[in-house]
Amino acid sequence: MERKDGPVLGIESSCDETAAAILAADGSILAERVLSQIADHAAFGGVVPEIAARAHLTALDAMVKDTLREAGLEFTDLAAIAATAGPGLIGGLLVGTGYAKGAAIASGVPYLAINHLEAHGLTARLPGMAPTQPAFPYLLLLLSGGHSQCVAVEGVGCYRLLGTTLDDAVGEAFDKSAKLLGLAYPGGPALEAIAREGDASAVHLPRPLLHRAGCDFSFSGLKTAVAQLIATEPPGPLSRSRAANIAASFQAAVTNILGDRLEHALAMCPDASAIIIAGGVAANTAIRTRLAQVAAAAGKPLIAPPLRLCTDNAVMVAWAGLERLNAGFSSTLDAPCKPRWPLEAISNSPTLPSSPSPPSSPRKRGSLAPSAMGARDPRFRGDDGEAPA
Ligand code: KG4
Ligand code: ZN
Repeated sequence: MERKDGPVLGIESSCDETAAAILAADGSILAERVLSQIADHAAFGGVVPEIAARAHLTALDAMVKDTLREAGLEFTDLAAIAATAGPGLIGGLLVGTGYAKGAAIASGVPYLAINHLEAHGLTARLPGMAPTQPAFPYLLLLLSGGHSQCVAVEGVGCYRLLGTTLDDAVGEAFDKSAKLLGLAYPGGPALEAIAREGDASAVHLPRPLLHRAGCDFSFSGLKTAVAQLIATEPPGPLSRSRAANIAASFQAAVTNILGDRLEHALAMCPDASAIIIAGGVAANTAIRTRLAQVAAAAGKPLIAPPLRLCTDNAVMVAWAGLERLNAGFSSTLDAPCKPRWPLEAISNSPTLPSSPSPPSSPRKRGSLAPSAMGARDPRFRGDDGEAPA
């Protein structure tokens, strides 16, 4: 399909936020919406996939049309429609990508399947995030409810995983520990709030993998230590001051671990031009402060996007769409949803260079085996559905 310059619509529906945003070709935000489903899931103490998918289905169409209205655009004005295709909950991914593909077919606009982690990782390059756009490579520290990863971002579609969690994600550890402390869902912000009243030195908790080689994480032992500590307390609810001390100690342990892991990640990627933090846990003030200290000691800028762009949003999806378009990629309409889609796998997925000039970043390219559909319509291509823009 002929590449045209213009705005890109982004759709995010991989977990419990329904979001839509439209970015102009230069990356300026024309319209953005996010609807959190926290209230829908609170009674269950976590995200219920079926409820999430239905809530996305209910909200998405009106939300997209709202963003188009605000931007003063029609679907046909768009240069592409980008949707998160993974990783995430399959029901929500199907809703978002199904909507995006339908709109793409109906309006004759290219579709882009976006990796959610790539979208977090490229947010650092969104205009306005830093005084100057960070050059590749830079370090991404992704700290969310589903992921804890250190990634060297070496180019659009070029990611090197430096470290990941061996068990729980950091946000999961916050949420589970908060639950053990009797705090409301989602636990991270509640735990941070009560930790302010506590004394971190009143209780000692372990720091799994601290000072170990590499920059992997492990948080399940820390969560178990919180559970064991609480099990030894007198029966009945914890006193507020005791809960505050445990929360403060937990947060201090996590902060300590993350600072140490970032130091190791920097040693593994010494030419990183900057460090970007993303994911809900990056909202935590103690953690931000510690990571900023580590970055300053290394003489690197720390890019901490505003909270609404750190947590799940569609601006990052539209921006990743623009970056992929500019690098010469589009997706075909049979691009699948991938509940598991590690960042490193992007570099290895079958892609073709843009015609006439190939993308400049050093991606590995393969050839596509056209599917039966692909034989009829070039927008239906191959396994991973990546195709020239
Ligand atoms: O990135 P995010 O909004 O959603 C995904 O997981 O994709 O991250 C949500 C996670 C939850 O585990 C939540 O408890 C945690 O981020 N979180 C926090 C804070 N705010 C959100 N954890 C610690 N301190 C916070 N202030
Ligand atoms: Zn996310």
